[in-house]
Amino acid sequence: MKVIVDTRENIARLAGDLYSELLAQKPDAVLGFATGSTPLDLYGELIARYNAGQLSFSKVKTFNLDEYVGLEPTHDQSYRYFMDKNLFEKIDLDPANVHIPSGVKIDDETIARYEAAIAAAGGIDMQLLGIGHNGHIGFNEPNTPFGSLTHKVTLTDSTIEANSRFFASRDEVPKEAVTMGIRTVMNARRLVLIALGEGKAQIIRDTVYGPVTENVPASVLQLHPDAYIFADTDAAKYL
Ligand code: PGA
Repeated sequence: MKVIVDTRENIARLAGDLYSELLAQKPDAVLGFATGSTPLDLYGELIARYNAGQLSFSKVKTFNLDEYVGLEPTHDQSYRYFMDKNLFEKIDLDPANVHIPSGVKIDDETIARYEAAIAAAGGIDMQLLGIGHNGHIGFNEPNTPFGSLTHKVTLTDSTIEANSRFFASRDEVPKEAVTMGIRTVMNARRLVLIALGEGKAQIIRDTVYGPVTENVPASVLQLHPDAYIFADTDAAKYL
């Protein structure tokens, strides 16, 4: 596990460099993306590099971590909509190469097909992750088995509370989601987790120094051979 502590701005640049290096070597890389507030600076960095002619995503395939159950792709809080607006519409990505779990077709077969599509693409080269205050990665809440593949989950109260800031009221936050499992995430060849702000300080400490336990899903990164954790100075307060 490589832990890098820097300013918010430098983290976007340093993480951006990992994308530039990977795409220089492998223009058709398979990238795993994430939603939430945390990746926005990095997405801005990737868009700027694309606009400057330094990066092309024309051959890239993408797989997102998760999606809320019950939200149409056009709903402004769906993760599909988030990705379109914050990244995909602003770069030269082929829409045919974009994969996000469906929030409306959630039968077992559709969910299994997501996992199969990742395998058919050759696996994920680099998976971006945020981290929840409870240590969730994707929507893998505490005590999700480390062996889990893409599956449907019930969100915890803490996640619903944290995400209610994006909705008109707490009642509007979906109660379920479809997420890559912990095993799906761990199968990616490289992991890049970003944590920003003091609110993430305790969970980053538990993730980096605590025991590897299903109770802290992100602690599994200690077992990954090529995992980066980028923390700003606030999130790194207890390191
Ligand atoms: P955030 O969410 O980036 O909005 O803090 C991270 C997460 O819940 O995984």
